[in-house]
Amino acid sequence: MNSDVSIAGDPLAIPHLLPPVPQHPATVAEFAGLARTIAADRAHWAPLVQYDAASRWYARLRTGPGYEVWLLSWVPGQSSGLHDHGRSSGVLTVLQGSLTERRRHTSGMAHRTLTPGSQQVFAPEYIHEIVNDALEPAVSLHIYFPGLTEMTPYAATVEEPVRN
Ligand SMILES: [Fe+2]
Repeated sequence: MNSDVSIAGDPLAIPHLLPPVPQHPATVAEFAGLARTIAADRAHWAPLVQYDAASRWYARLRTGPGYEVWLLSWVPGQSSGLHDHGRSSGVLTVLQGSLTERRRHTSGMAHRTLTPGSQQVFAPEYIHEIVNDALEPAVSLHIYFPGLTEMTPYAATVEEPVRN
C-alpha cells in the first residue's frame, strides 16, 4: 500500500517527535528489557560477584521506584529451596553458568534449565526452587516489583517431576 506521506531528512533528529525514554521500567516488557540491559553490561556486574560456599551470596545492585535488582551467585550444589515471593512479581535472568529451576506445576513439578539469556518472568504466588546442579559456579539477576519483602519456604514435594 502506498502512502502519500513523505519525510524529508531524518525524523529521529526531531526530538519533540520522539517519545521520552523511560527512566524506570513500568511494564513486564520493560522489566525484562532492564534485565537484558544489565546482563549485557558484564563489566558492571562481573567485578561485584563473590562466591560463598557456606551460604549463598547476594547483593542489591539497584533500586528504583517500586522495584529492586539483585545479583546472586551459586556455587555448585547451592539451592534456594522451594519458596514463593510474597506479593512480588519478578524477572529472573541467568548471567553466567546454568541453573535448574524446579517450579510447582498443576500436575507436579516442572524442571527447566536456565542458561545465559534465559528469562523467567513470574507473577505473585509463583513457587519455585533454583538449584545449581552444574559443575561450574553460576550468577543470576533478579528483579522484584514491588521489592521482595517476604519469601515463604515450602517443603520439597515428592510428586513426580514433570518435564516441559
Ligand atoms: Fe525465587
